[in-house]
Amino acid sequence: MPYPFVESGETGPMSDTGQKPEGRALYRHPYPSPDLAARHPFVAYERQRVDDQTMRDRAESFRVSADGRRSVRMFSSDPVPRDLIEAAVAAASTAPSGAHKQPWTFVAVSDPATKSRIREAAEAEERTNYLENRMNAEWQEALAPLGTDHHKEFLEVAPWLVVLFEQRYELRPDGSTRKNYYVKESVGIAAGLFVAAVHEMGLATLPHTPSPMAFLRTVLDRPENERPFVMFPVGHPLRGLLVPDLARKALEEVLVVVDGT
Ligand SMILES: Cc1cc2nc3c(=O)[nH]c(=O)nc-3n(C[C@H](O)[C@H](O)[C@H](O)COP(=O)(O)O)c2cc1C
Repeated sequence: MPYPFVESGETGPMSDTGQKPEGRALYRHPYPSPDLAARHPFVAYERQRVDDQTMRDRAESFRVSADGRRSVRMFSSDPVPRDLIEAAVAAASTAPSGAHKQPWTFVAVSDPATKSRIREAAEAEERTNYLENRMNAEWQEALAPLGTDHHKEFLEVAPWLVVLFEQRYELRPDGSTRKNYYVKESVGIAAGLFVAAVHEMGLATLPHTPSPMAFLRTVLDRPENERPFVMFPVGHPLRGLLVPDLARKALEEVLVVVDGT
């Protein structure tokens, strides 16, 4: 691909803050450099600019939708077509990742026998957590409003269990290995996209971490480079179910703006 940049600054539409749009002329070190573009392929990336009000409207509609998401612990056993799970994983796998390594594997389980084994093993771990005080008092206090316990029936009832594994390092088909970068950050972002995709299509999920989760690698026969990160039961929420009445932090509690004023 030829080096795509022009010399002079080019302009886009004015933003309604009245600031001048940024042009290429602002960059003395454009990306990619001609040398880089000669060595690695680059493609044009174009997004249609929309006005600030349209962006505000989109942001608000996304916020309202995101705010309507809740973690569910009672699922309907109604089946969910496999292609919907595939669509959610495909969306999740668009996540940005350190050095574009995409260090994740999603294992989607609908087999009842495998779900039973997972429930059994998860409940065994959770029994130790909840009933034998493996969780300290502070942790138990934090969980109290949720009322969670060692019963995990939803792991069998939900039509799908999607187990997300992080790839601690890359294991190539020839057995050689390569480093992965920012694995937890990358897999966390993919997990967030998965949750959003499931919610957007009208289904529900729960990020579930019956710690320690090493049993998932054994039950699902995953390779040594993979470690369970979180699992997601997925299905329709059970009609009439209740969720904890939680408040989300106000914007002022989670946002600090540094704008020089
Ligand atoms: C990384 C992570 C692990 C979680 N693990 C569990 C879990 O093991 N069991 C559970 O019932 N909920 C679990 N949750 C769900 C949280 O309790 C829930 O997200 C939180 O209470 C907020 O509720 P909401 O998701 O409905 O907004 C987990 C959430 C996250 C992000």
